[in-house]
Amino acid sequence: MNCSKVISNAAYILKKKLIANPYLDSEILLSKILKITREKLLLNLDKKINNIELIEFNKLIERRKKKEPVAHILGFKSFWKSNFKVNKDVLIPRPETEHIVEEVLKMIPKLGSYNILDIGTGSGCLIISILLERQRSYGTAIDISKRAINLAKYNAKIQHIQNRIKFVNSNIDKFYQGKYDLIISNPPYIKNYKINYLDDDVKLYEPKVALDGGIDGYSKTKKVIEKSSKLLKTNGKLVLEIDDKQKIFINEILKENRFYINKIVKDLAKKYRCIVSTKI
Ligand SMILES: C[S@@+](CC[C@H](N)C(=O)[O-])C[C@H]1O[C@@H](n2cnc3c(N)ncnc32)[C@H](O)[C@@H]1O
Repeated sequence: MNCSKVISNAAYILKKKLIANPYLDSEILLSKILKITREKLLLNLDKKINNIELIEFNKLIERRKKKEPVAHILGFKSFWKSNFKVNKDVLIPRPETEHIVEEVLKMIPKLGSYNILDIGTGSGCLIISILLERQRSYGTAIDISKRAINLAKYNAKIQHIQNRIKFVNSNIDKFYQGKYDLIISNPPYIKNYKINYLDDDVKLYEPKVALDGGIDGYSKTKKVIEKSSKLLKTNGKLVLEIDDKQKIFINEILKENRFYINKIVKDLAKKYRCIVSTKI
């Protein structure tokens, strides 16, 4: 059978299971089996695949049918300019979170030496991406999950950046170390009753601690803001990812904690996603 036929058969099976992007997922998983890029696969759709490859591919499609995320099947997720190892212990990095990286890079000059704190580092995607672009800056990354910290350390090591990041397994409530020029955070911000209604891909495979924002959805963000107000230097910046619907509440909490709001960035879906503020 040629690749084109294999992909359309698999996509048909995934579509019946209500998988959102059946063709894309099938193409990515077949590229993995053939050990080529998706682009190369699309240029060679007539290529025949052998029985062993087909059996291995069908195993991956079975996993995807059970809603296992493609990133878990591949074992990594691309974010900004790197691949990050991911598993059930961390949130899979989302493209919209790249707005934080973009805003931070506008703020730190190429040779700037900033002391950065990443609250709730997960896979480490944010702090690692930023420090890879700013060779003279350094960071501290904290997470309540020991397993997340271990994975973030691994990701830092494969990017040869472990010497510039201190990893701390701590609850934000109990963290008091240092004074920072910049704090970044993508805190959990889903209202807890809504977690049961999320797609199975998320609900069954991503850690609840990375999703659960409490009853109102912004109680973790509030903690991050209150703590940041103590850990930031005067004129230090706080760059936060938020849920569009929480913008008004977060603005208020920032003001109560003596932050000046510099800007609120919308994502590609035109939703408010990232707030940049300054500690005054
Ligand atoms: C939404 S995930 C973000 C992960 C990563 N920064 C990203 O953007 O992909 C939130 C992270 O915050 C961590 N977390 C949740 N509650 C925390 C707390 N009280 N103190 C420290 N970290 C916490 C979770 O373990 C999770 O890794």
